[in-house]
Amino acid sequence: MQFEKILVIGLGQLGLPAAKYVKEKGFEVYGFDASLEAVNRAESIGGIERAHDFRDYDAYIICISTHSPDDMFSPQTEGILSIADRISKEAKRDGALVSIESTIPRGTSQKVFEILRHRLHVVHAPHRWYALEEKEHGVNQLRVIGGVCDCCLGVGMQFYDKETIEDNNNHNYSNNNTFSTIHTNSATLEPSLNTKMVTYKKSLEIPMHPVSRIVIAETTKIVENAHRYLQIAFAEELYLYSQANNISFPELRDALNTKWNVNILEPREGIGGHCLPKDTRMFLESSNSIRSRILTAAMEVDHNYRAFRAGLNHRLHVEEDHND
Ligand SMILES: NC(=O)c1ccc[n+]([C@@H]2O[C@H](COP(=O)([O-])OP(=O)(O)OC[C@H]3O[C@@H](n4cnc5c(N)ncnc54)[C@H](O)[C@@H]3O)[C@@H](O)[C@H]2O)c1
Repeated sequence: MQFEKILVIGLGQLGLPAAKYVKEKGFEVYGFDASLEAVNRAESIGGIERAHDFRDYDAYIICISTHSPDDMFSPQTEGILSIADRISKEAKRDGALVSIESTIPRGTSQKVFEILRHRLHVVHAPHRWYALEEKEHGVNQLRVIGGVCDCCLGVGMQFYDKETIEDNNNHNYSNNNTFSTIHTNSATLEPSLNTKMVTYKKSLEIPMHPVSRIVIAETTKIVENAHRYLQIAFAEELYLYSQANNISFPELRDALNTKWNVNILEPREGIGGHCLPKDTRMFLESSNSIRSRILTAAMEVDHNYRAFRAGLNHRLHVEEDHND
């Protein structure tokens, strides 16, 4: 599969840098967004051409928001499913790639795949993009990727990965430092007769970590953020503990962090942004039988910490007013 013409859908905080990166890599990039403002911004800042339809593309990268418009902490996938429906109706190129880069609840990729009826390949390659450290943690950093089928993953790896190797069935892949390889007979581990030189195709050259099932890719992303949520909640609890017991939290934290395997975070204003609370909720709601008790407690801690900070700020304001 040769990739040339790419459509990035969703040109917000994540989609715009993603589109710019794809363009820098030499692809022909178009952008689409429900917001005209986002499309205009992408055109003026990133030189991303606006798409008028979803017809002629080799790859569709979905970066739209996945929260409810009324509540940024509530996960919502209707947007992704309606995009999939539109791609299914308009896409002309069979075998093109649909990559979901937005954060999604477990099972969403399978729904997209069913809408597309496998006429196009579906992968999930969630982002680890971090606005404050875009150089180190931008678009091009180690990422996890899963495919709904092996062939989807093979095509996804071809598009994304730094170095991808195809086998004779066209659906194996691995990260490797060579651009050509000799295949072995899997039963005997002897070099097989139908050895095949593999050519290196144009790709995004992002180091990818492929996983065997798409649910692993979906779960990885939301657990990463749930893990971060827990770490911050622990710092918040330690802060409240310090306040209640007349201990200096900054001094305690500095002392703790001198140990090689301890890293207590700063609780700051509480667990902010929309990604950590939304994705933690996605994870909490993703299991039918087991609901994480530790995360439920962490949410309670964050609530208490925020209430404490609000009370503290309120008291400070009252004191300032008295001193005026
Ligand atoms: N921003 C980050 O740091 C970050 C990091 C990792 C993952 N993510 C995930 O990436 C996704 C996008 O996040 P973001 O921060 O870029 O959000 P954002 O709100 O900045 O941008 C989302 C864009 O999608 C557009 N959009 C929403 N629904 C649409 C639809 N149905 N059709 C077309 N366009 C639509 C919006 O107009 C907006 O421009 C989310 O799932 C988020 O959780 C974000």
